[in-house]
Amino acid sequence: MKNMNIKTNQQGILEFSGKSVVELAEKYGTPLYAMDEMMIRNRLKTFNQAMKEAFDEKAEVLYASKACDFLAMYRLIKEENCGVDVVSDGEIFTAYKAGFPMEKAYFHGNNKTDSEIRFAIEREVGTFVVDGEDELETLNQIASEYNIVQKILIRVTPGIDPHTYEAVSTGIVDCKFGSALVTGAAEALTHKALSMDHISLQGFHCHVGSQVFDGEVFMKCADVMFCFIKEISQKFNYECLQLNLGGGYGVPYVEEDPYLDIEQILMRVGAHVKRLCHLYDIKLPQILMEPGRSIVADAGITLYRVGSVKKIPGAKNYVSVDGGMTDNPRYALYRSKYTMRCANRMNEEASLRCSVVGKCCESGDILQENVLLPDTVQRNDIIAVLCTGAYNYSMASNYNRIVRPAVVMISGQDEKVVVQREKFEDLIKNEL
Ligand code: LLP
Repeated sequence: MKNMNIKTNQQGILEFSGKSVVELAEKYGTPLYAMDEMMIRNRLKTFNQAMKEAFDEKAEVLYASKACDFLAMYRLIKEENCGVDVVSDGEIFTAYKAGFPMEKAYFHGNNKTDSEIRFAIEREVGTFVVDGEDELETLNQIASEYNIVQKILIRVTPGIDPHTYEAVSTGIVDCKFGSALVTGAAEALTHKALSMDHISLQGFHCHVGSQVFDGEVFMKCADVMFCFIKEISQKFNYECLQLNLGGGYGVPYVEEDPYLDIEQILMRVGAHVKRLCHLYDIKLPQILMEPGRSIVADAGITLYRVGSVKKIPGAKNYVSVDGGMTDNPRYALYRSKYTMRCANRMNEEASLRCSVVGKCCESGDILQENVLLPDTVQRNDIIAVLCTGAYNYSMASNYNRIVRPAVVMISGQDEKVVVQREKFEDLIKNEL
């Protein structure tokens, strides 16, 4: 795995971003999310630069904040001059509190409630990504009450199979998101939006899925979307100003996973988009993309302390750690693979095949099966799970009244806690 910020030091201890993870665990407690700030910044810079080279200077990155979102993350995104994709009033609230420039926020979601729509308008969210007719009509109505014209994109379901796991696939016609091309729903919605007084249609959006490794999928999306844009421009004499091609770039979690050269894909998509514009005689719209996972995934690791090792002769071996599905539900939900290391025994041979499990009261609380750890693994050892920067903190829960871990951000020599470990008082703060 091409992980630039992981290495083993002379004492056989795993270092993350130049820091001994054993020391991090001792200093901040476990479970602990550790994130590498420079890596996130570099990813955003590289993505931004590649977008501008592939398309033009107007092209922009919108970080899909659902991947990992807290105040410090929105501040960082602001400093890197990127926009954000937000999907709920809670995300809007957090971005707003972080001082994020809300005109650079794109509000997604297949069911935005009236109160969310009002909340977003009051905080001057720049663009709504409208999913369907109900939302469009409600938005036009509410925007008229505020006497504003709201910028929107229409989310189109392009009918493309992204070849990923079903729970994160969003591009095929029968999915819950967006308005389909093949049924004519997208065209009808466009027609309607163009007739509305309080709506300003800026263009279109599509996103076909997450953890996509097939680069051709992004090319196909461009094909389908430009064909649609051409039709719309002819039928309604409409010039599309923005096209958002979504996110979904795959990330390797284990050695066997492919590595996606995102810069190369962007260059290919860029050249293809320019060809299509030429072919259809369309002015190149501003191109937006919404990477989430590929910005933060391998910039994060989780550290746990081992609590028990149970070897069942002739059956299974279990290594139990002090976190679990509450801080990382992805194996329980999707059978997601992860790379795990016994961080204080890096030079020992990993020969014990085991399941690394959490401390929740249910058998499904598994972080990973078929993991190889040193046979000497024992209580108080530190287990590091790599590549947990995306969809771990943001999907964490308080099941079993387990408090959510802290997030420590490492930046060169500096470390700062950007999210404190929850306190017991937090668990009951809403309870009467
Ligand atoms: N844009 C839209 C409209 C999305 O729905 C998503 C992800 C993204 C962008 C960012 O996709 P990414 O670049 O992160 O793949 N909880 C799941 C992933 C759900 C993805 C939801 N949408 C997981 O843990 O794998």
